[in-house]
Amino acid sequence: MPAAIRKAVIPVAGLGTRFLPATKAMPKEMLTIVDRPLIQYVVDEGRDAGLEHFVMVTGRNKGVLEDHFDIAYELEATLTERGRTEAIEQLTRDRAAAGTMSFTRQQEPLGLGHAVWCARDLIGDEPFVVMLPDMIPRGEPGCLAEMMALYDETGGNVISVEACDPAETGSYGIVGLGDPIGDGFQMTTMVEKPAPQDAPSNQYINGRYILQPEIFGILAEGRRGAGNEIQITDAMLRLMETQPFYASPFSGRTYDCGSKQGFLAANVAFALEREDLSEAFAAEARALLDAAGR
Ligand code: G1P
Repeated sequence: MPAAIRKAVIPVAGLGTRFLPATKAMPKEMLTIVDRPLIQYVVDEGRDAGLEHFVMVTGRNKGVLEDHFDIAYELEATLTERGRTEAIEQLTRDRAAAGTMSFTRQQEPLGLGHAVWCARDLIGDEPFVVMLPDMIPRGEPGCLAEMMALYDETGGNVISVEACDPAETGSYGIVGLGDPIGDGFQMTTMVEKPAPQDAPSNQYINGRYILQPEIFGILAEGRRGAGNEIQITDAMLRLMETQPFYASPFSGRTYDCGSKQGFLAANVAFALEREDLSEAFAAEARALLDAAGR
C-alpha cells in the first residue's frame, strides 16, 4: 500500500471579486449551496474520504471560516434551551474536532502554487491532498474517495479530471491521457488554460489533487507562469519528469462555483436532491421555467 494520505490543503485566500458585492465583507467560501457553505461541502468530502486534518491557506478577512468550524457556545446553549436537538447534532457533526484544522496566511496573491507552498511546514514530508473550494463535485462515493481508491492501486500523484466543453479549455488545466490503469489513466501531460486548438484533450482538472511532498521543493523555486503567477500546474509538470501521474476520471459532475452559472446550477442540483425541499422546489422551478417560456 502507498503511504496513507491524512491531510488536505484548502486554498481560501482568493478575494472572490466575481461575486461582489456578496463577497465584500464575507469570504466567498461562505456562499451557500442551499443552506451549507461551500467550505463545508469540501471538508465533508475530505472527511468522507478519510482525511484527518485540513490546512486552510487564508488571507485577510477570512476569520469567519475559522469561526464556522469552531464551537458556538451561545448559539448551542440557546438551541439546547429550545430543545432543538437535531440542529445541535448537525452543528456538532459539521464542526472540526479539536486539533484537526490549521490556518496559515498567504500574504500576497502570488498564485495557486504559492498558496499550496505556504502550507509546506504544516503538511511535512508526506503525500497530501489539495482541494479547491470553488469546485464542488456531486456524486457518490465522492470525488476524493474515487481518487483515493485509484491511489491505493497506483501510489504516485493522482489528479481528478472530468470532460469539459472543448470550447472551455481556456478556463482550466487540461491533461493528456495515456494507457488505462485501474479505473484511471496514466497522465502524459498537462497544460494550464490552453486555447481549444492547443488542448491535448477535453479532460480538465476539476480541483482535486493527490500530490507527493516533492512538489514543495519545486514550488520553492518560485518560477512564474501564466498571469505571472506561481502555477501549481507548472510545478506538477516538472514533478512529472521524475514521478508518475495518474488521472482519475470523476464519475459525477463538478459545479464550478467560481462562476455565477455554476453556482446557481449547484444550488438547483443540490436542492433537488434534498428530501426536505425536492418536491416543492421542483414544482416551483418548473413553474418558473414555464412562465419564462423556457
Ligand atoms: C485552477 C487550476 C486549474 C484548474 C482550476 C479548477 O485554476 O490552475 O488547472 O483546472 O483551478 O477550478 P483557477 O480556477 O484558479 O484559475
